Amino acid sequence: MNTLYNRDLISIDDLTKDEIESILVQAAEFEQRLARGERHSVAQLLRDYLLATIFYEPSTRTRLSFESAMNRLGGRVLSVAEAKTSSSAAKGETIYDTGRMLESYADVLVQRHPASGSARALADAAAVPVINAGDGTGEHPSQALLDLYTIQREGAAGSPGASRGGLRPLDGLHVAMVGDLKNGRTVHSLSRALSHWKVEFSFVAPPELAMPQDIVDFVRERGATVNQATDMVPAFKTADVAYITRIQQERFATPEDYMKYKGVYVITAQVLKDAKPGIAIMHPLPRVDEISTDVDTLANAAYFRQARNGVFIRMALLAMILGAV
Ligand code: CP
Repeated sequence: MNTLYNRDLISIDDLTKDEIESILVQAAEFEQRLARGERHSVAQLLRDYLLATIFYEPSTRTRLSFESAMNRLGGRVLSVAEAKTSSSAAKGETIYDTGRMLESYADVLVQRHPASGSARALADAAAVPVINAGDGTGEHPSQALLDLYTIQREGAAGSPGASRGGLRPLDGLHVAMVGDLKNGRTVHSLSRALSHWKVEFSFVAPPELAMPQDIVDFVRERGATVNQATDMVPAFKTADVAYITRIQQERFATPEDYMKYKGVYVITAQVLKDAKPGIAIMHPLPRVDEISTDVDTLANAAYFRQARNGVFIRMALLAMILGAV
């Protein structure tokens, strides 16, 4: 049963574990259908439906993969890529008023905005479903879903996943998250999502950019083991996943503050020399300097496959929220 119909997705906590699993299954079905060449039948599912993407912050992957997903499902897209300057927000229009307008123009809204809580504000205004595509340092729930989907598929050769159709079980994982864990919304949503399973986290960050305490407390309450460190190398020795994040330049008060942390973690093939064999190297992208290009050719460099998986996850979300599956 599709319980996502007509629902908002603001936080990953809006979804139960069963609902997360059903989205992952639906995404896999879309990936398989496209691989089998079923483009035409897939493109009938959301014919006559409209998606509006309203982005007040830059994006390559999230906006374009939502739009790719909607187009692959046969729907149409209204897109505002620079809403801060090219929408009436520049004239002072509120999110509430914007939502009251957009509900008449599209069947589902996808918004990115620099303010934490802004997706909730849009959802409270608009009568159509809203998907949070990143609200400041808050959350990025569709990214967490595509990250889970990727982790399931990036198991090391010979991993227990081999006996489950090639999928890596999420129970028993050790996930090292590295970088700007304070400001990085992807790690906030992914930590919350992974805590549905029995996982161990290593949160690796400078003390000033540590994972917020409310998230540490939340995942611990759900039974996760949490290690906190400033050195990534020891964590990589036993981690199944190294999830690297960018230092979020746009969240710092001054360029000087940012420069204190720029380049603090740089993953190279040499850094990974003693890492657990098969460790999946993930990154939500964009990267700046935190993963050297010499890592790109490693078999376990998963970040471009991770970005590709965003299309299947967003197809699943749109189809389920609009009641097409
Ligand atoms: N991962 C991610 O959110 O990428 P974009 O900022 O390019 O959308």
